[in-house]
Amino acid sequence: MTHLHITAWVLALILLFVSHAFYKKGNKAGKILHMILRLDYLLILYSGGDLFAESLAVNSPIFEVIIKGVAGVWVIAAMEMILVKTSKSKPAKNFWIQLVIALVIALVLGFGRLPLSV
Ligand code: HEM
Repeated sequence: MTHLHITAWVLALILLFVSHAFYKKGNKAGKILHMILRLDYLLILYSGGDLFAESLAVNSPIFEVIIKGVAGVWVIAAMEMILVKTSKSKPAKNFWIQLVIALVIALVLGFGRLPLSV
């Protein structure tokens, strides 16, 4: 399940950058990639939820697992807000900053602290 989780969020980051670039150019492909990204959120949430259940079974530090999950949901929220703002030609800097903060928390806890691995 970790493989699916990592694949899903790496794909999400790629779709975010490409969709953002297309939106900036006013190209319709931005909207399509944004829709695909939204489906990918479901994969991230599904695999994250499954890892959460797995974490309970192996006695992971529950507080950190919960913060990891919250940071993950925050990453998704920031990506969505970046694209919604960009699609309306509004500034999205605030949400880029939130994305970086949430991503760092998710990566440090996910790779650095929590025990489940590939
Ligand atoms: C795009 C956002 C996300 C990123 C970048 C991310 C990143 C990561 C990383 C790097 C790992 C560690 C994988 C490994 O050790 O091999 C991980 C594991 C995990 N993620 Fe996420 N994740 C995200 C979203 C979510 C969401 C939304 C949830 C909850 C619904 C979640 C829950 C978990 C759990 C429970 C684990 C297992 C932790 C453990 O090792 O005990 N993640 N994630």
